[in-house]
Amino acid sequence: MNLAIRHITMIKNCFGALNWCRGRDDSDTAEKPQEQVIATKQFTYNSLRSATRDFHPSSKLGGGGYGVVHKGVLRDGTPVAIKSLSVESKQGTREFMTEIDMISNIRHPNLVGLVGCCVEGSHRILVYEFLENNSLASSLLGSKSKYVALDWPKRAAICRGTASGLVFLHDEAQPNIVHRDIKASNILLDENFSPKIGDFGLAKLFPDNVTHVSTRVAGTVGYLAPEYALLGQLTKKADVYSFGVLMLEIISGKSSSKAAFGDNLLVLVEWAWKLKEENRLLDMVDPELAEFDEMEVFRFIKVALFCTQAAAQNRPNMKQVMEMLSKEVHINEKALTEPGIYRWHSSGKMGGSLNETPSSQLFKNKKTGMPHENSTNFSSNDVVTEMLPR
Ligand SMILES: Nc1ncnc2c1ncn2[C@@H]1O[C@H](COP(=O)(O)OP(=O)(O)O)[C@@H](O)[C@H]1O
Ligand SMILES: [Mg+2]
Repeated sequence: MNLAIRHITMIKNCFGALNWCRGRDDSDTAEKPQEQVIATKQFTYNSLRSATRDFHPSSKLGGGGYGVVHKGVLRDGTPVAIKSLSVESKQGTREFMTEIDMISNIRHPNLVGLVGCCVEGSHRILVYEFLENNSLASSLLGSKSKYVALDWPKRAAICRGTASGLVFLHDEAQPNIVHRDIKASNILLDENFSPKIGDFGLAKLFPDNVTHVSTRVAGTVGYLAPEYALLGQLTKKADVYSFGVLMLEIISGKSSSKAAFGDNLLVLVEWAWKLKEENRLLDMVDPELAEFDEMEVFRFIKVALFCTQAAAQNRPNMKQVMEMLSKEVHINEKALTEPGIYRWHSSGKMGGSLNETPSSQLFKNKKTGMPHENSTNFSSNDVVTEMLPR
């Protein structure tokens, strides 16, 4: 049933893409049903070359698993981020356009806006709105030269904004979208340090072949929900887990993929849990934060711990997270269960085999999490595979 609905959605969008390719004018577009209207602008490769001075290295903004991102300036003076995809897409032009179309119709203040794309020969390029303050990874967790001091109100706003973007993807976007790669380098910051989630929906543009999975996994150690990493179970709760890790990074100012804590080289989530057990949770707060609202920070750390619980059904959904971050709710710490950790073998090589932590150990705590004192539990029908229509 779901597959059938998805198929229909794709076909509708596909027609939209083809219509755009044929160069329909606006008056024509206006008479068509909503789903056939396409927002994706197509750029020629040459226009993007001149926007980036032939993809000059000095205009490079970053790059991850999927390609290099350059800053560009369009002919009308609009600054943009231009992402050239390095992965050989097995998709044809039409399918690629269909997916782009899906993403381009999604608009939210906390999601990076797609300006357009370029599909010419073997080139697959995405053009995004440009965000002045790069990513959270570079401003908060990166090298000293790029470090930006973010006070607590800004950090709290980044947590709330990101949560709001995820609520939109999980509950309001049609079809619902599981991001799959929430991490600091995918959270971009505008001129006011408001967050916008990037890379969303992009995973959908690529076939889940082996190379793709290993690249992704290697790039996101420290953020992966154990059930997704070990059992391949992808639900919205995998995003919730990654969001919890991201919050711990924002609060501590430490990168989960780089930092190790104590003699036992604990990962960030384990360290947070240890501090909770020792009743000294506030010790994890970034020493750079001179002043902060202790009650609020305390609440945020607890929310992060609820998000990173081992059992996915114990984790809150993003709407509940948003509520807990927005109001002074009392969070029932007693309901908190142990975090789930996924890590590589101690040989430590990226791309190595998975740690064979038995799943019984990962999911040993079956108690139901109830952060709100009077709430029932977090179990919900959130099981989706990648993107599903509601
Ligand atoms: N719209 C943008 N504005 C400013 N910088 C960006 C933008 N998009 C991406 N970047 C920079 O490029 C990096 C990689 O972008 P991303 O879309 O996450 O690519 P990848 O799929 O390769 O990880 C980001 O971490 C950020 O530093
Ligand atoms: Mg990325």
